[in-house]
Amino acid sequence: MTDLKQFIRDVADFPQPGIVFRDIAPLLRSHFEPTIDAMSGLLTAGEWGRIDAVAGIESRGFMLGAALALKHGKGFVPIRKKGKLPPPVVSIPYQLEYGEGVLEMQQGSGRLLLIDDVLATGGTLAAAADLCLAAGYQVDALGVLIDLNLIKDFRWESQPARTVIRY
Ligand code: PRP
Ligand code: ADE
Repeated sequence: MTDLKQFIRDVADFPQPGIVFRDIAPLLRSHFEPTIDAMSGLLTAGEWGRIDAVAGIESRGFMLGAALALKHGKGFVPIRKKGKLPPPVVSIPYQLEYGEGVLEMQQGSGRLLLIDDVLATGGTLAAAADLCLAAGYQVDALGVLIDLNLIKDFRWESQPARTVIRY
């Protein structure tokens, strides 16, 4: 299988001094389908059968989550940065490697696969999973394309973040 990691570009001091930004744009440009295929493999066929929808975290999580949802005939649920979704929404504050913010989501029900591109501190993914519960959903699994290995053994409610590429 192609080593997808080789298509990720390292950018020093972006978006802040001291951060090594892992840029997935070249990977998506040249290997989008194999990337989505690899992420599909994070769940068994049985697990895919049990989920109702894929939730993606704005904005890079949208690209991956929407493609996964389409490939598996599932719905897509957006988790957005504050002020983008019309009310009523549920909100949660969060912190990430280079900042902080508020995530929002509309209420719903069903079993979700929660998807993002990068796991760094885990702040975004954990807050998004908490938000899914607060919005009325169940989180069956969490998946990311890249684990930067900044934290050992990320868990949310005892569930790991399933990962394709590890640093
Ligand atoms: C990035 C990335 C993850 C988050 C991971 O978000 O897309 O959502 O950081 O960091 P953490 O594990 O430390 O929380 P960003 O807000 O930069 O999003 P975008 O570029 O996808 O809009
Ligand atoms: N999100 C959080 N940290 C990141 C990093 N180092 N590269 C790309 N996306 C990120």
